[in-house]
Amino acid sequence: MGIYLTIVFYSAIALVILKLYIKLTTGWCYSQVCLKGKTVLVTGGNSGIGYETAADFAKRGANVIIACRNKDRAEAACEKIKKETHNQDIHYKLVDLSSFASVRKLAEEINQTEDHLDILVNNAGVYNVGNQLTEDGQQLLIQTNHYSPFLLTNLLLDLMKKSKSRIVNVSSLAGMAAKWIWRN
Ligand SMILES: NC(=O)c1ccc[n+]([C@@H]2O[C@H](COP(=O)([O-])OP(=O)(O)OC[C@H]3O[C@@H](n4cnc5c(N)ncnc54)[C@H](OP(=O)(O)O)[C@@H]3O)[C@@H](O)[C@H]2O)c1
Repeated sequence: MGIYLTIVFYSAIALVILKLYIKLTTGWCYSQVCLKGKTVLVTGGNSGIGYETAADFAKRGANVIIACRNKDRAEAACEKIKKETHNQDIHYKLVDLSSFASVRKLAEEINQTEDHLDILVNNAGVYNVGNQLTEDGQQLLIQTNHYSPFLLTNLLLDLMKKSKSRIVNVSSLAGMAAKWIWRN
């Protein structure tokens, strides 16, 4: 009985600490800053965090480009954002982040069609995909979540330097844990 009570006690303490940590380090973005005239690119903008981010930018008047790997899901998301936000300046580009060639193609298209890019959100990501390799011979997860966003960002840097721009990398607490484990 004693051991169970100890486990419950320490688990409760760990939960309280985690909750406190999350409360102190995270928050909801209530920004109302007008984004008219700004161009934003959100990878994986057809669902989840990427979709909500793209919709929020759209609500604030930005020209939004979502970069997605599936045409049907991309089109459906664009239509939904347009309907929800009454902003018609919502577009999509196709990209598969598990392919460097596809990332290069996206960057080339953006560099050709846009004369400025004010916000880049590297959001698309995968987890729990096992040990598969991509056509480039890399691990699927690391290429999708790390190498491709890094490549995309670098290929868009010159364009982004034309305005006061911002790059946001959506990450995970798991990334922090991995960093901590590797360091120790
Ligand atoms: N939600 C959480 O609690 C949580 C926690 C930690 C970290 N994150 C991070 O937050 C980001 C968004 O997560 P989420 O929860 O919103 O996930 P989600 O709903 O699964 O969205 C992931 C997006 O990434 C896209 N994507 C996946 N692989 C791709 C590829 N090879 N090429 C292009 N797009 C690809 C997906 O496209 P499809 O729709 O075509 O699959 C989808 O649009 C991810 O980077 C994730 O690691 C989320």
